Amino acid sequence: MGLIIKNAVIVNADKMHTKPQNILLEKGEITKIAADIPVGNHKVIDAAGKLVFPGLIDLHVHLRQPGREDKETVETGSRSAAKGGFTSIMCMPNTTPVIDNAMIVEGIIKEAKRVGLVNVYPVGAITRGQNGKELTDMAELKAAGCKALSDDGKCVESSQIMRLALEYAKMIELLLIQHCQDHCLTGSGVMNEGYNSMVLGIKGDPGIAETVIVARDIELAHYLKTKVHLAHMSLKRSVELIRFAKSQGIQVTAEACPHHFTLTDDAVKSFDTSTKVNPPLRTAEDVAAIREGLKDGTIDCIVTDHAPHTKEDKETGFDNAPFGMIGLETSVGLTMTELVHKKVLTLQQMADRMSAAPARVAGLERKGKIVEGYDADVTIIDPDKEWEVKVEDFWSKSKNSPFIGTKLKGRVEVTICGGKITYQA
Ligand code: DOR
Ligand code: ZN
Repeated sequence: MGLIIKNAVIVNADKMHTKPQNILLEKGEITKIAADIPVGNHKVIDAAGKLVFPGLIDLHVHLRQPGREDKETVETGSRSAAKGGFTSIMCMPNTTPVIDNAMIVEGIIKEAKRVGLVNVYPVGAITRGQNGKELTDMAELKAAGCKALSDDGKCVESSQIMRLALEYAKMIELLLIQHCQDHCLTGSGVMNEGYNSMVLGIKGDPGIAETVIVARDIELAHYLKTKVHLAHMSLKRSVELIRFAKSQGIQVTAEACPHHFTLTDDAVKSFDTSTKVNPPLRTAEDVAAIREGLKDGTIDCIVTDHAPHTKEDKETGFDNAPFGMIGLETSVGLTMTELVHKKVLTLQQMADRMSAAPARVAGLERKGKIVEGYDADVTIIDPDKEWEVKVEDFWSKSKNSPFIGTKLKGRVEVTICGGKITYQA
């Protein structure tokens, strides 16, 4: 017995079917797309009035397991992802211990399979214990199931280590993701350095801390003829550098988060520690440039940087609170409200930035598109459904979101992963 999605207006990155189709999902695969498929003994979902996207993919999530299961686990993070419309996620290695060997990678994949709600691809560390000094065994990490490596949360600061990492990663065809931040320049800064940090008397983190690494890694990628993927871009200048690099044929890709195309550092005036993120919220000019970068494809992917933290950890002064906000369950609503309904992105571009492009960047096969023969990963979205973000509705274990109380338009109705319904509103 399979699953048929009836009245499906399919939104693929390269094509939008205006005439509703039927989609048959069997044994984890999309087996047939046609105007009419006999129901037989298949289960039926009616998608009339909704949009049917390829399963959404988030390349940047923090699941906190192992080590901080009080913030999130593979299980609670998977539930949160399914509710947010995601069918595949990559989880970052800044856990305790760090994801820097095959045993931990295999453990996370095994737990994710047991939970069975979303495909989880652990991101292995670039350096052992994220110490920035010794490279991990990249081939071992790849064999264990990693699709990418990163020291996320920390920047690989040594140019020589980054050079070696890029060379090895190229040899074994694994993506490197850089967290771009020169910590010498950041110092003890905890919000964007600028007028607001001055007025609030909060230590500033200057944009140059991001852009010097963006520029350096673009140069390394150019010199070594390698790929590099730049995480959570937050600045106009970063977008300009990446746009220039792409125009030169340099193999750089990049991602941006909903909070960086939605909020400015004005949000920090509330002293709400959920507005404390790394990289920090920037200026209106930066927000506009991130939107422009997403529109013209300079920024390839939308990711959440879902970073759960407990109430206890966040309920402290702005200086001492950990960086990060949750994002899995608000990403579709924010993208639709801020980008699609405001005509920054078309629906097809949204399907690209949230599914096709992440699949392409991370090399996830048979994902990112609704076509026969691809994996049965599907996200059904009601583009016009209005809803309010409420703290009690989060399925994430943590609630650190600055969007609580925000009204959004566009909501995930059904998530299907591997042909199985993993969420239904
Ligand atoms: O805000 C952030 N939180 N940025 C990061 O790079 C790390 C993340 C975390 O792990 O909490
Ligand atoms: Zn990061």
